[in-house]
Amino acid sequence: MTGFFSEENSVNAVNARMGVDIDPRLRTVMASLIKHLHAFIKDVELTEEEWGKAIAFLTRTGQMCGDERQEYILLSDVLGASMLVDAINNRRPEGATESTVFGPFHVANAPVRQMGDCISLDGKGEACLFEGRILDLDGQPISGAKLDVWADNAEGFYDVQQPDTQPQWNNRGIFITGDDGRYHFVGAKPVSYPIPDDGPVGKMLAALGRHPYRPAHIHFMITAPGYQKLVTHTFVGGDEYLTSDTVFGVKESLVAPFEKTENSATMWKSKFDFVLAPK
Ligand code: BEZ
Ligand code: FE
Repeated sequence: MTGFFSEENSVNAVNARMGVDIDPRLRTVMASLIKHLHAFIKDVELTEEEWGKAIAFLTRTGQMCGDERQEYILLSDVLGASMLVDAINNRRPEGATESTVFGPFHVANAPVRQMGDCISLDGKGEACLFEGRILDLDGQPISGAKLDVWADNAEGFYDVQQPDTQPQWNNRGIFITGDDGRYHFVGAKPVSYPIPDDGPVGKMLAALGRHPYRPAHIHFMITAPGYQKLVTHTFVGGDEYLTSDTVFGVKESLVAPFEKTENSATMWKSKFDFVLAPK
């Protein structure tokens, strides 16, 4: 008799159960998932105890998820899955600014601010002027581009992580470019910080001998009619975690200059032009 499950034919036994009239993409994705999952189990000869621990880990990860915390996104991030999905889905033409991981701390509908405004509402840290242009691939300025900006405060926490101590919308804002495509605003010079590591993902990192830190960065989501959405960061050059970002988000082209200024109002200046690809 054929068709019963065995170690040798495990993949076929499972995949053959799929119906004929199912979504073709679902068929492709699930068939590949089963193939690689079974190959992994066979490769490491997974023990029953290990599989039990894996299921308990995934259960705890799900239990940690809620409106304020998405432990599965952290898991995807530290496994490099988020960056790989980003890379496959955001192949851009030469000259366009590269994307990087979105992360869990974006909040929609931040206040629209005027160019030059300060987004550091708690006033902590070293003031930094962020400035540059939004350009197309020909170097022409893009008018009406929307820059949605978010960053941690000088102590390494986002406002949503400390709703009782930080002002709402601290280190966040939306800026719209004019005809010259320029943006400029003041914020705190970013500092490196650990991703939330008090849950199962943090325990996993510790067990693997990995630290939970991200190098200092500021997030940008830039949209403009007729252009591809750009989700990216700029990183502070020289940060000690640039080559060991726990979520693998660093790209060399996104490391920005942060220069000391003579200006007493802002101790630092970071100039960075973003280049959008057409749709
Ligand atoms: C962030 O940069 O905000 C972030 C990205 C991935 C995981 C945790 C935080
Ligand atoms: Fe961040």
